[in-house]
Amino acid sequence: MSGFKADFLWGGAVAAHQLEGGWQEGGKGVSVADVMTAGAHGVPREITNGVLPGKNYPNHDAIDFYHRYKEDIALMKECGFTAYRFSFSWSRIFPDGVGEVNPKGLEFYDNLVNELVANGIKPIPTIYHYDMPMALVDKYDGWISRQSVDDFVAYGEFLIRRYGDRIKDWLIINEQSIIVEFWKKKNYVPEKYHGDPQVKFQINHHMNLGQAKISKLIHELVEGGRSGAAIGYSPVYGLDSTPKNMLAMLNAEDLKNHFFLDIYFKGKYPVGAFRYLEEHGMAPVIEEGDMEIIREGMLDFLGVNYYASKCVRFPDADKNELTEARSNLSGKKGAMGAYEVMPDFYQYMKNPNADTNDWDWTIDPTGMQYLLRDIYQRYEIPMIITENGLGARDVLEDGKVHDDYRIDYWTKHLQAIHRAIELGVDVRGFLPWSFVDVLSTSNGYQKRYGLVYVNRDDEDIKDLARIPKDSYYWYQKVIATNGAHCLEEE
Ligand code: BG6
Repeated sequence: MSGFKADFLWGGAVAAHQLEGGWQEGGKGVSVADVMTAGAHGVPREITNGVLPGKNYPNHDAIDFYHRYKEDIALMKECGFTAYRFSFSWSRIFPDGVGEVNPKGLEFYDNLVNELVANGIKPIPTIYHYDMPMALVDKYDGWISRQSVDDFVAYGEFLIRRYGDRIKDWLIINEQSIIVEFWKKKNYVPEKYHGDPQVKFQINHHMNLGQAKISKLIHELVEGGRSGAAIGYSPVYGLDSTPKNMLAMLNAEDLKNHFFLDIYFKGKYPVGAFRYLEEHGMAPVIEEGDMEIIREGMLDFLGVNYYASKCVRFPDADKNELTEARSNLSGKKGAMGAYEVMPDFYQYMKNPNADTNDWDWTIDPTGMQYLLRDIYQRYEIPMIITENGLGARDVLEDGKVHDDYRIDYWTKHLQAIHRAIELGVDVRGFLPWSFVDVLSTSNGYQKRYGLVYVNRDDEDIKDLARIPKDSYYWYQKVIATNGAHCLEEE
């Protein structure tokens, strides 16, 4: 018997720039995601200053959802989806970021939302998912400028007025935590700022203001509207029980997790982490009235993006200097670029007690139960899993993809969610990453996550055929039994 409530939402998640393609079609403006190259084994994806000749930008066509959305929605329906998380592309709606709205772009989203609703699939949009319009970067360096707050709010207000009759649950910003961690990869940050880590916390503060203002507007303008954010969340474990390592765990939890959720649900920054940033010259500038804006726009629910837990220790004396995280680009286990260090606070490291995927992302279903219970205990808010998945090199054999490793991953994570629900946590839906193979933001098309395989790779867009994987048929049964199918082995 499944313990998932009858109205538990089942679906999948994606983001505009990772699947739509049509980067210049129907009057769309350029976004920062459009100037991100493919990279290759060992060669990082690069954000270029504009679209440069001779470079490969794999999101320009992506998987052509822009033209194939009906076919893809039919696949969602066949799988049994009751919800679908997607993002609006800011520069498709406002090519210049502000000002004139683009009617063709709007027509695309009108059709998409209506098609979902007509198929009984609840649209759960994200307003901002890593794709600031390039026009605003050129104009004032994007999120670095405080002007971005007003322009973001104007864009958000436009969306909620237009779709508030059909869309009630809104995710405003995707993964501020990851935007801070990889601030030069998930943003276009002009080179002159690269040496100043304070900038990433300033960007984050501007996002907090914009998000809070939009949240307030959702409450005022959308009947029954609920505001949320999707956070990239990794529970942090201490390496062992030595007091210093346990302290490092607390420090990391505060700066990597509570730093965002305390803003969303308590309307303030956690004091310890904030003081630490002040001591190290990294705290954001907060203007008079800012915290009031944040308090007035607190969120109603949390979207949880969970892939992997993290492990920390107190920094070794010889490693005690500011170090930024660098991803594993080769997809060779153990080739992780660099682990983050915050001096005298924490040092990230590989967890010696957990396995990883090929890109060194820890595989830890217990972490799912851990974080859900921890977050619920601290904030008592409803949650939806808005991303969860396993990146792997899937192989197409005789028209099939046997991704039993992914089925195993999701089965265990769903069992962990179920147990958290049994223990009283309010989880209302599961929208794994991802519905279909989309472009990975760090590893191009070599790393796949979808329930549905797409026939393309980094260099060759091939025929873009959609081929449901074994996990798709497994998920169809999970949905049809409202979760019971994945609890059988529990
Ligand atoms: C999340 C993002 O960080 O993880 C998605 O919200 C992203 O946009 C997903 O695709 C998987 O990460 P990656 O780097 O493999 O694409």
